[in-house]
Amino acid sequence: MSKSALITGLTGQDGAYLAKLLLDKGYRVHGMVARRSTDTRWRLRELGIEGDIVYLEGDLADACAVQRAVIKAKPDEFYNLGAQSFVGSSWDQPVTTAVVDGLGVTHGLEAIRQFSPETRFYQASTSEMFGLIQAELQDENTPFYPRSPYGVAKLYGHWITVNYRESFGLHASSGILFNHESPLRGIEFVTRKVTDAAVRIKLGKQKELRLGNIDAKRDWGFAGDYVEAMWLMLQQDKADDYVVATGITTTVRDMCRIAFEHLDLNYEDYLVIDPAFFRPAEVEVLLGNAGKAERVLGWKPKTSLDSLIQMMVDADLRRISKE
Ligand code: NAP
Ligand code: GDD
Repeated sequence: MSKSALITGLTGQDGAYLAKLLLDKGYRVHGMVARRSTDTRWRLRELGIEGDIVYLEGDLADACAVQRAVIKAKPDEFYNLGAQSFVGSSWDQPVTTAVVDGLGVTHGLEAIRQFSPETRFYQASTSEMFGLIQAELQDENTPFYPRSPYGVAKLYGHWITVNYRESFGLHASSGILFNHESPLRGIEFVTRKVTDAAVRIKLGKQKELRLGNIDAKRDWGFAGDYVEAMWLMLQQDKADDYVVATGITTTVRDMCRIAFEHLDLNYEDYLVIDPAFFRPAEVEVLLGNAGKAERVLGWKPKTSLDSLIQMMVDADLRRISKE
């Protein structure tokens, strides 16, 4: 019998890569998808897997829908990736962010506790929880200090996962993932905003790139590598929490330089600093230590920032040339 997996956030960047990974391993993949008025399956089409998924309708804010998805999918593994994931929007939608990214996790854990206690659970925690960093290199023991409504909501999601593991013995793990990007990244996130703009400028379709704080530093990896870490966490005998990161941090400015240089352009000729993109409170720098993931899971990042940005520029070039 093949294993069954349930993914929330299937239509997002990580959901699409994870679904492909699990399908390639022979899983039956169920995706809980919230009702939207527009088509949200473009990533699944890009990976050629749109027809291979069992779709279940449901929103993480709706506890009954999550329960129904668990009862129908009878999952061996439940990956909770669904979220309002854009930090910038979390100041405009703080309550939605709290309900989906915070309470939504409890809906998943409760559904398992009541209807399927053997199901293994993965929670998509985040380096945003470190926020105003309390140590130069962040690992599983670094205290948290979130700086956005998103970070605060995710911190609740993280601790409720730990709590259900400790209270009810659920196999519930939390992956504290640092920023990860790909050609399937949403256009609002800074890497994809930059690669898309660089290509449009190269093709004469755009004149400038407007950004906020380009001195911010992030530890950027490739989403394709990071979904393997999620899967590995659920293959362990014991549930636990793991930092997943590259151990290298780069400024937004340098990431821009890399993207534009791939197209023989100088980013300084096109960059406009726009206060509209500054955040009410900023996470200035993130840098992760994934030593535990390497030791216990045997996981290591495979993709450098340079090859990641090259991959994203090439994909945007293909897409935009066809428009
Ligand atoms: P993403 O591309 O923004 O995808 C988010 C997914 O969540 C989408 O499928 C979205 O559905 C779904 N969703 C949003 N609201 C929902 C709701 N109310 N009910 C059910 N589903 C809902 O995010 P991602 O980059 O793949 O990230 C996946 C997860 O990892 C998120 O939880 C994120 O917070 C977390 N994370 C991401 C990173 C990163 O750098 N990428 C790092 C650490 C943690 P629609 O397509 O219908 O909008
Ligand atoms: N999006 C965006 N747009 N960010 C900008 C811009 C801009 O125009 N200009 C500067 N930045 C800076 C942001 O202020 C931030 O410091 C950095 O670029 C990265 O922003 P994002 O790409 O939006 O990602 P994020 O770090 O806020 O959040 C992502 O990573 C988290 C993990 O640390 C998201 O994927 C979260 O869901 C994830 O949890």
